[in-house]
Amino acid sequence: MLTKEDVIKLLNPIKDPFLHRTLEETGGIKEITIKEEKKHISVKVAIGKTNTAEQMQLQQELVGVLKKNGATTVGLRFEQLPDEVIQKFQPAVDQAKEQSLMGGSKNPHFIAVASGKGGVGKSTVTVNLAMALMRLGKKVGIIDADIYGFSIPDMMGVEERPQVRGEKIIPVERFGVKVISMGFFVEDNSPIIWRGPMLGKMLNSFFKEVEWGDLDYLLLDLPPGTGDIAMDVHELLPTCKEVIVTTPHPTAAFVAARAGQMAIKTEHEILGVVENMAYFESKTTGEKEFVFGRGGGQKLAEVLKTKVLGQLPLQQPYEDEDVFAPSVYQEDHPLGKEYHKMAAKVIAKVEE
Ligand SMILES: Nc1ncnc2c1ncn2[C@@H]1O[C@H](COP(=O)(O)OP(=O)(O)OP(=O)(O)O)[C@@H](O)[C@H]1O
Ligand SMILES: [Mg+2]
Repeated sequence: MLTKEDVIKLLNPIKDPFLHRTLEETGGIKEITIKEEKKHISVKVAIGKTNTAEQMQLQQELVGVLKKNGATTVGLRFEQLPDEVIQKFQPAVDQAKEQSLMGGSKNPHFIAVASGKGGVGKSTVTVNLAMALMRLGKKVGIIDADIYGFSIPDMMGVEERPQVRGEKIIPVERFGVKVISMGFFVEDNSPIIWRGPMLGKMLNSFFKEVEWGDLDYLLLDLPPGTGDIAMDVHELLPTCKEVIVTTPHPTAAFVAARAGQMAIKTEHEILGVVENMAYFESKTTGEKEFVFGRGGGQKLAEVLKTKVLGQLPLQQPYEDEDVFAPSVYQEDHPLGKEYHKMAAKVIAKVEE
């Protein structure tokens, strides 16, 4: 029958699924009890994060190893490692990865704008949140990560193309916000038919081959749903935070919850929910009509254990003959003011 030392030797090389370090390095094996007569081994293990799918996998691995080596039954208990231990291993890994990604002297705060469904206003929210952050004095960039369905350049009225300097692409600047989009690299708006791995490469290039300079915030407009790109973003940007957009309709919120659940699963912090197209306000009577239903944003925030960052009514930006930017709300526009408040909340949360 195995001894405690044997058990330690067997389990030590197994890796903590979150810290990617061995249990030996993290000091993850906390307690071992062996009942000789029943060939029962119970182990208490501390890991970076408990109650996750990764824990389930680790559980199977640990049980497998012990049974293969003679245990008839195995009991496992999990607890979370102390914060100091997690910090010791975690940030170093993540920071280094993102540092090399951007090539700048410091990392911006990454914020991905996600939703479950298409057409709920992700791109509009990305553009206007970026504008509001810029108006609050931040240096802001946008990556239009919706590789197939890029729309940021049109929404902001960008007509130039990025310049190339040496090996680097210089993002287009519009209203002081730096933008990069697949739309800059395709001819005549033609549709793009690419497969998964190429998408990942594209996203990578948007970081590595673009001269972003020093940014405070880099916003990513994600395609709808929970597909490859969203996964790639997680891989590339472990510290990325998320804003989830939904309409007030319960079904939309339900679908958006999936995007949110993925953010949680991938350990992206959710900054909050934006309820877009929340209501229509009559110009003449000021009466609010809840044309797309009510309560979706709040419901979603509850499911995701976060807050509603803002509720945006249905309204177009003011018409402006001089400045063509069809989806940018002016600073003094009611929605411009709403975005200002949301941006202030985001800053407070992110920079606290
Ligand atoms: N609050 C609003 N009031 C009026 N129109 C809006 C509002 N928000 C978004 N829209 C309009 O709704 C349409 C969809 O918005 P947007 O393109 O931002 O959504 P999306 O979630 O990015 O869509 P997709 O999934 O196709 O990328 C656009 O025409 C946009 O101008
Ligand atoms: Mg979009």
